[in-house]
Amino acid sequence: MKIRKLSGTFGAEVSEIDLREPLSEGDLKALKKAFVDHQVLIFHKQQIEPQHQLAFSRHFGPVQKLYAEEHRIADCPEVVVLTNEMNDGKPVGVVAAGDYWHSDLSPNKTPGLATFLYARKLPSQGGDTEFADMHAVYESLPDTTKERIASLRGLHAVSKLKNPRVEVTRPGGAEYYKKQNSIPDQSHPMVRTHPVTGRKSLYVSLRFTIGIENLDDAEAQPLLDELFEHQEKSDFIYRHKWQIDDLVMWDNRSVNHRASGGYDMGDIRRIHRTSTLGDVPF
Ligand code: SIN
Repeated sequence: MKIRKLSGTFGAEVSEIDLREPLSEGDLKALKKAFVDHQVLIFHKQQIEPQHQLAFSRHFGPVQKLYAEEHRIADCPEVVVLTNEMNDGKPVGVVAAGDYWHSDLSPNKTPGLATFLYARKLPSQGGDTEFADMHAVYESLPDTTKERIASLRGLHAVSKLKNPRVEVTRPGGAEYYKKQNSIPDQSHPMVRTHPVTGRKSLYVSLRFTIGIENLDDAEAQPLLDELFEHQEKSDFIYRHKWQIDDLVMWDNRSVNHRASGGYDMGDIRRIHRTSTLGDVPF
């Protein structure tokens, strides 16, 4: 197995590994280290089935069963289909998943840890996924901002309807999100410490962070705008241009991501997704 760092602040390509095969102890140890060191790992030319993706994901924590049952792979329900494919006018999978910057499941008390996407079908243009290095984002903040946010907690809401910064584009989305309006917001430290490396990261996202605990919106919203704008600077971003059979995994404790769209509804993109449960942020 070879690990080659990408040219930016984070991310690495892993080669000479076949994810259909059981991992040796040595490779697993090296992969776990690479995962926290590089935050995003890219594996090209993996010809895996859903059960291989599930078995690999399990090495990085308990795999979750997310989204509606009809959008999961029937005999491997931990694997969710993200796609714009339709069957008899009904979506085959989750449409427009992850279309704003976020860290997975941050509105939960225990948010997501690792997420794995595997490319099965790609549109003729667009469909990239962008990743932001939230360690680098935090480290490059001015000292005054670091001091200002050091003990603040962001409020994370699951319903898009509670967030004026985002729009609902998914078919049937308004009904879906209306049901989530009653779910209480979750607060997390805005500066998160990585439990393995001890590095700090900025833990807010445009999709989920709608306010700051115990701070009036008059003060909180401009601060969030400033942080979101800083996060979107290209110095901290890796844009993954997918190839069929790529598997990409990342660490939600230190990475924000978004699906960048840019393709038509009839131009099919199909991604198989798994994710694991993390720990309470501190
Ligand atoms: C996600 O946020 O889980 C999906 C990202 C993508 O499809 O590019």
